[in-house]
Amino acid sequence: MDYKKIKIPHHVGIILDGNGRWAKERGMKRSSGHEAGFDNLVGLSKHMFNTGVKILSVYAFSTENFKRSKEEVNFLMNLFENKFKKYAEELKKENIKIVFSGGREKPVKEKLLKIIDECENITKDCTRGILNICFNYGSHSEIVQAIKKIHKDLEDNKIKEKDLNEDMVYHYMFQDLEPIDFLIRTSGELRLSNFMLYQLSYAELYFPKTYFPDFNNKEFDKALIEYTKRDRRFGGIDYSK
Ligand code: IPE
Ligand code: IPE
Ligand code: MG
Repeated sequence: MDYKKIKIPHHVGIILDGNGRWAKERGMKRSSGHEAGFDNLVGLSKHMFNTGVKILSVYAFSTENFKRSKEEVNFLMNLFENKFKKYAEELKKENIKIVFSGGREKPVKEKLLKIIDECENITKDCTRGILNICFNYGSHSEIVQAIKKIHKDLEDNKIKEKDLNEDMVYHYMFQDLEPIDFLIRTSGELRLSNFMLYQLSYAELYFPKTYFPDFNNKEFDKALIEYTKRDRRFGGIDYSK
């Protein structure tokens, strides 16, 4: 596919879903699905940046995912501890910067927070694209912390109420990134599950049935073709059509 000839979304969001069902269908434990999902993400994200995507936000673990069994949560935490750093090193070679969005409070362990900081640190000068990993992330809690920061800056006279606008709110999110253009949620679920609600207001939505570990480069190219067919109107009308 000639990616130069098609419209490429600037910021893509992925709710990577279906790891557990992927494993269950194969008679394997849910943990094998998470492992396969992570390994898929490494190759897929590189491919996405190669097509021309500039920002990729991935939903890796929600604040609500702590409701899962101790065994599953521990497995995921260990997986992130073991794999984030190597992923960051690979992305550094691709000149991709890694940033994280999400809460840093308990039960997230100190050891993992250190690894997260290291990943951000070793890729901080990269310029070809940004991978935003949403970990212990919830959109409601992101918005609440933004409101608190805005309140504080108003009190400290750092900003004036009359200057506060919609664009400025992005600046108070976990990461100051542009709106999402294209959201993909794998596995056929038709909901957002508390993912980037402010940033998704005019995103095009795409819900393939494929489970995330099987959502490969070819599947993403199919998604891109679908994106090129969308008519993004942002509330306006093109009267010349
Ligand atoms: C997504 O896969 C990964 C995480 C939420 C961490 P799931 O674990 O939600 O897989 P399903 O939805 O149960 O199949
Ligand atoms: C959303 O998936 C969270 C992540 C992909 C990290 P879930 O599988 O947790 O969402 P629900 O529970 O089906 O809404
Ligand atoms: Mg799920």
